[in-house]
Amino acid sequence: METPGQDASYEIVVGAGALQNLPGFLRERYPDHRIAAIGDGEALRRHGARLRGVLPEETPVLEVPPGEESKSRARKERLEDALFARRLGRDTVVVGFGGGVVTDLAGFVAATYLRGVPFVACPTTLLAAVDASVGGKTGINTPHGKNLIGAIRQPAAVFADTRFLETLPEPEFLSGVAEALKMAATSDPDLFGEIERGIPTLRAREAAALTRLIAAAVRIKAAVVSADEQESGLREVLNFGHTIGHGLENATGYVLAHGAAVAVGMIAESRMALRAGFLKPAAEDRLHSLIGSVGLPVRAPDGVERGRVLTALRSDKKARGGRPRFVMLEDIGRVRDRDRQGGTAYSYPLPAEVVDAGLRAIGL
Ligand SMILES: NC(=O)c1ccc[n+]([C@@H]2O[C@H](COP(=O)([O-])OP(=O)(O)OC[C@H]3O[C@@H](n4cnc5c(N)ncnc54)[C@H](O)[C@@H]3O)[C@@H](O)[C@H]2O)c1
Repeated sequence: METPGQDASYEIVVGAGALQNLPGFLRERYPDHRIAAIGDGEALRRHGARLRGVLPEETPVLEVPPGEESKSRARKERLEDALFARRLGRDTVVVGFGGGVVTDLAGFVAATYLRGVPFVACPTTLLAAVDASVGGKTGINTPHGKNLIGAIRQPAAVFADTRFLETLPEPEFLSGVAEALKMAATSDPDLFGEIERGIPTLRAREAAALTRLIAAAVRIKAAVVSADEQESGLREVLNFGHTIGHGLENATGYVLAHGAAVAVGMIAESRMALRAGFLKPAAEDRLHSLIGSVGLPVRAPDGVERGRVLTALRSDKKARGGRPRFVMLEDIGRVRDRDRQGGTAYSYPLPAEVVDAGLRAIGL
């Protein structure tokens, strides 16, 4: 699949065995380059032999401890020093092998090492395959917040091998499913229907089902991101479910898994769209029922304080003047894109009683 991006279009290979295409790609595109791999510790423990099997024998494989803490300035520095210690120059290709933590981190290392060397993403989580490895956002966290330092830089290619997803813990798998559902719900009614019809194959992680899901999600994300590069603001649609989702993550001290938070967020925000008069009950029902059938939660966990969610909403990145704004679903596969004056808009402030109805729908 060819994907339009800001620097150039890049290749995305999806499927069982997609990693086997990496050596051919590197030989053809970067025949005289050296390779350095940066891999998630757990992904390497499970699947490192496959990665090493497709890389030249002398390739250094730098291991990153699993977890969000690794997306740090300190870790980036250590990786850079390890590359310098091996005297790797501008003729280096960085290969990132792991979930979104590693694709964000390794992508950022590549973006700034010697002012930038090519980066190839090999996502090993569903979330990284459908979301993090596409769109060119790379970066790290700081004590001041997540993803505050980074660069927008497209990868040279993405190899999403579905074999790696077999070993993902269920919550990690569902995080990726939630993001893919979000893309279908906002942008692709056909994909939504296909997911509805194939729930058992998806839950069984059948390679064909995963390949179709990833390919469709990637196409949506790439299209949204490239339209957004023309300043359309369309990227905001990727935030459907995330406004309430982030509020829930915040209110649970980040104990709630991201995918679960987004799923519950989509339930709340689709109820808001219903109450605001944009969405029909049948469409809300379909979304609600699909979220539940794939194994994602539809209610906030016990003990979440409604007040904490409301406070978190005020500092959401889409908030203006402390008023949160929400992406409004109009139908399955379509979001509202016009404000009352006819201008382009993808997120909207809502009356307190509409937000309230959304929170009540998830038990808050
Ligand atoms: N750049 C973007 O556009 C973008 C988009 C969405 C998310 N992100 C970022 O992605 C990160 C989250 O990504 P994630 O959910 O992949 O988390 P992650 O990278 O932390 O991976 C989740 C867990 O799965 C383990 N793991 C990885 N591959 C495995 C495999 N094949 N089998 C078993 N275990 C495996 C990891 O060790 C880790 O414990 C966040 O930092 C987020 O900010 C970035």
